[in-house]
Amino acid sequence: MRRHLLLLACLALAGIALWLSGVWLRGYHIAILTLAFLADYLTPEKYQAVTLDQAWHHWWQIGDGQRWNLYLHDSTLQHVTLAYAQFAGMVIILTGAFLFPWRTMKLRASTVHGSAHWANLKDARILLKDRGKKAAMQSQIPLGMYKGQQLVLKEKQIEEHVLIVGPSGKGKTAGIIAPGILSERGNRSLVIIDPKQELVRLTAGAVSQSMQIWLFAPTQPEHSHHYNPLTHISSMEEAEEFATCWVSNTGRSSDPFWDRNTELLITAVVLHLRDTEPNASFSRLADILTGSSFADIEALFEASPSVRAKKTAAAFLKNLKLNEKTAGGVMTDIAGRFFRLQNPKLAAVTATNDIDFNAMIEQPTAFYLSIPASAAERLQPLTACLLMQMFTAFVNRAEKEPQGQLPRGITCYLDEFANAGKIPQMAQKISMLRSTKVGLILAIQNYAQLDALYGSESKETILSNTTTHIVLPGTGQDEAEFYSRRIGTTTVIGQSMNKNAQQQSESWSQGQQEIGRRLIMPEEIRTMKKGEMLLLTDTIAPIKFRNIPYYQSQLIKRTNPQFQYPRVNEEHRTYEALTTPSENQQKEDSELAHEMLKESGAKQPSIILEREKCTYNRQTLSPD
Ligand SMILES: Nc1ncnc2c1ncn2[C@@H]1O[C@H](COP(=O)(O)OP(=O)(O)OP(=O)(O)O)[C@@H](O)[C@H]1O
Ligand SMILES: [Mg+2]
Repeated sequence: MRRHLLLLACLALAGIALWLSGVWLRGYHIAILTLAFLADYLTPEKYQAVTLDQAWHHWWQIGDGQRWNLYLHDSTLQHVTLAYAQFAGMVIILTGAFLFPWRTMKLRASTVHGSAHWANLKDARILLKDRGKKAAMQSQIPLGMYKGQQLVLKEKQIEEHVLIVGPSGKGKTAGIIAPGILSERGNRSLVIIDPKQELVRLTAGAVSQSMQIWLFAPTQPEHSHHYNPLTHISSMEEAEEFATCWVSNTGRSSDPFWDRNTELLITAVVLHLRDTEPNASFSRLADILTGSSFADIEALFEASPSVRAKKTAAAFLKNLKLNEKTAGGVMTDIAGRFFRLQNPKLAAVTATNDIDFNAMIEQPTAFYLSIPASAAERLQPLTACLLMQMFTAFVNRAEKEPQGQLPRGITCYLDEFANAGKIPQMAQKISMLRSTKVGLILAIQNYAQLDALYGSESKETILSNTTTHIVLPGTGQDEAEFYSRRIGTTTVIGQSMNKNAQQQSESWSQGQQEIGRRLIMPEEIRTMKKGEMLLLTDTIAPIKFRNIPYYQSQLIKRTNPQFQYPRVNEEHRTYEALTTPSENQQKEDSELAHEMLKESGAKQPSIILEREKCTYNRQTLSPD
């Protein structure tokens, strides 16, 4: 397009130059007068009776002065001559352009070594922000700017899962997760892992305007909803799944015999409790498993009215009855795995249950899991169980729907996903969730985290089942190499120096040849500038875009009233909204806002300082 415009401009200029040369420069008058003759001759009213030969003869006979006079006093003739001059100029330039050896000047590479290329706007159109009324109702996670357009992740990409890879401090939370949550429209429910307890503060105020908020914060029982894993177990499979999850997150033994027996015993006790004490707190399970000898366990199952518990325990008891020492070893092992539940805060938040995963489908809900990094490892068994039970509940519910999809989509912002512990059969779960309208946005620091948790095979499945990958600067060598290879090779024209060793003297000649080159080298990925990110999906060419973090975007300024932590009435298990921030809260928030302002170097105070009050409503769910 630009080349065409340039060519047109050249043509116009050439025409004008030709005309000027004819009018003002005596030396070129012949050219212009020849054109004038043609113009004159071709005017229909004139010279109709004479031939071109006769007219030409007459034109040159009248003399130079008269010819010139004729031309200068006939404005129509001048205009027509100008048109002819332009036409002639155009023909000359076009012929020149056609004959000019463009190809030798700039070779266009073929695709012989590879055809990798960056996406153009046409390729990337499915990721450009939709506008209009309908689009305003949909969740579009803003990513940043690409070729002057706003790049977003739409529901389709979210439901096919997203993986964000980047080391600490490169913008996983501030650049993608926080802007994403702030852009939610209340049509989908959200699950948000908040590893630094910053997301609830930054986003819950805005989110609470369009959906109900749940908060599970085991380190802050005074604000936290209660979650009792036992309440979510009804079948034998669910009890087994829970036992596997708990054992996986409290350390696997080198000999599977120990783990198998531990899992059997946990499954049996869970089933016993579900059948005999449906309202049992989670710490009741811990009490039984940490405070019983092998003989106590034997007596418990002998007296248990639960047939399925008895059946499960029979296998365990049969294994261990013969060897007292081994039985003692298994009991000690189990006690160690439930020891951490003795913590009073943990016992408090797991005593009853007011989390109902199905309610998230009925009503738009944002469920924050506020798990501080310092307690993440200690809480891994609980967090992993919660996520596992939640995914199972979503998949089971979707299976009951005619389309196999949940009536309401759910977006899971799983920041620092690796800190959430090992979710059993995550590789299968992630592919099952794909078709249910549950989208996972997994943020990790590197692949080694997935490898350590799930092993290399499951890691590969997780990587291939997350269709969109976002790569941040500073990634490790393995990740940079992986993405460089995945983006592929392109063909470029390279310069080469050839040695001519003919005759006595040596000479060098310069040549051009096609060579293959990675579209982006691993070191170019690692050393991207802060704020630059790579986006890869399965259907479009790679995109390198400029990310806009929440603190530089208009989003937070527009939409973020302050969130008030709920106050829990322990006696009735109800939550009350606070209408005014407490003094401590105010102080803490203004300190945070001050720090953020200092960090960002912003001159204007941000909206975080200009609080709006927001109310907090939730329906209390009675324990099972
Ligand atoms: N409000 C703010 N103003 C200015 N800079 C900020 C603000 N919030 C975060 N940053 C900066 O943005 C960068 C990205 O922070 P972010 O918390 O998103 O990193 P991250 O990739 O999530 O890292 P981590 O794994 O440690 O959570 C950091 O350098 C941080 O200092
Ligand atoms: Mg973060």
